[in-house]
This record gives sequence, structure tokens and C-alpha cells, in this order.
Amino acid sequence: MNLRRNSCLALTHGILDRCESSDGVEVVLCPPSVYLHDVGAAIRGHSLTLAAQNMSEHQDGAYTGEISAGMLVDLGCKMVILGHSERRHGMGETSAQVHLKALQAHQHQVTPIVCVGETLEERDGGRTGEVIETQCRESLGGLSAAQMTGTVIAYEPVWAIGTGRTATPQQAEEVHGSIRRWLAETFGKEVAQSVVIQYGGSVKAENAKSLLEQPNVDGALVGGASLQVDSFVGIIQAAMELAKGSARG
Ligand code: PGA
Repeated sequence: MNLRRNSCLALTHGILDRCESSDGVEVVLCPPSVYLHDVGAAIRGHSLTLAAQNMSEHQDGAYTGEISAGMLVDLGCKMVILGHSERRHGMGETSAQVHLKALQAHQHQVTPIVCVGETLEERDGGRTGEVIETQCRESLGGLSAAQMTGTVIAYEPVWAIGTGRTATPQQAEEVHGSIRRWLAETFGKEVAQSVVIQYGGSVKAENAKSLLEQPNVDGALVGGASLQVDSFVGIIQAAMELAKGSARG
């Protein structure tokens, strides 16, 4: 719920001006729902992808104030963030709901970006692995292999979101590796290798490269740093440099 219409559109145009080509990197913009139409119109014909920050687990019906997957399709959305920690912890959203939402998204060919992450208390209590596995199992366990392949996972430690405190590249890699292992055990090795696992939590231009160069960190989910052109473009440039390097290697 950051930025009003004019600043949201100014940011979109600023990003477009600086990211005309983002070779090897998929850049996704996730504005508030009420600006999806405007941002979608601004990026039409460009390589950027439009995504929403949330949607309903229901197909349609009397759910006042909710937005369905089909409605997101009407707005040109290709992806949707599901189970962000602010929804899980601030609004009581459960993994069971996230699972239903992921199924709805797939039914409408919208790619879900499913967020998981432990609180500081859970990390300090040595429960990170167990919490992440439970969230993955309950949110994603019931998907088909094809649906899982078309799902993005975002590991977002709750203690790192909006706090300026980033997980170290080693901490991120450790959890990403455990998610990849869970995917391999549950859906098979091929699916596990194809799933994009993003890291989110105080990603900035200065730390993006060290996080993104970890073998199991495939992308970033950016909050605060996406609200300004320079910091967001800095992250995209770090990703592009790494993509170029890996294409050569
Ligand atoms: P942050 O937010 O980058 O500001 O920590 C991440 C998020 O909201 O997912």
C-alpha cells in the first residue's frame, strides 16, 4: 500500500526508461490491485511482466471486496504473489488458503509466487527448517508436478522484510537448498531443478549480487528497494550481469 497513482506511474515509466532490454532477466512489476490496469497499460509492448500482490482463493461469488484469478487475467496479470508474510502474519492467512489460491491461479494460467519464511523467534529456536518445510508442504504439497513446475517460491525470512536486516548469502542458500531438496523428494529431481526460488527481505542494489550468485537463489522479491528507480534498476543490473556471466560459463 505504498505510493499513490501518480508516483506509481512515474516509477513505472522510470523503470521502463532504464530497462528497455533486460537480457536474461525477467522483470515483474507488482503494483497495488487498483493500479494494475494503469501499470499494465504503461508496460504494454515492453518486456516487463505484470503481477498482483494477492487474490482470492474462490473462483467467484459473493466475496465482497475480493479479487479473483479470472479478474486478474482480465487485467493482464501473468503472475500473483501469494501468502506474503504481511498477509500470513498481519491478516491471518493460512497455508491451506495459500494452497487453494495457488490452485485457482493455475486454473487460470496465472503463475503463483508462493512466499514462505520463518519468524525471528522460530529461527532463534532452531526451527527454520521445520517451519519452511511445513509451509511448503501445506501450501504446495497438493499441486501436480506440472503445476509445481509453473510455480515460483519466494523464501522471505519474516525478520528480514522491511527491516534492513538481510539474510546472509549463506543463510539464504541454506534454506533455498533445503527447499530444493524438499521439491526433489516430493515432486522429483526434474521438477526441483526447474522451480525458480527467489529470495526476499531487504534486497538492495548493494547486496543483490552476493545473494543472486548463490547456486539455489534464482531471483529476488524486492519490497522497499523497488519503490525507487535507481535502487530497483541497480538490482536488475546485478541480475543481468550474473545472467551474462552464466550464459558465457
Ligand atoms: P523488503 O520487502 O525488500 O522491503 O524487505 C520484501 C517484501 O515485502 O517482500
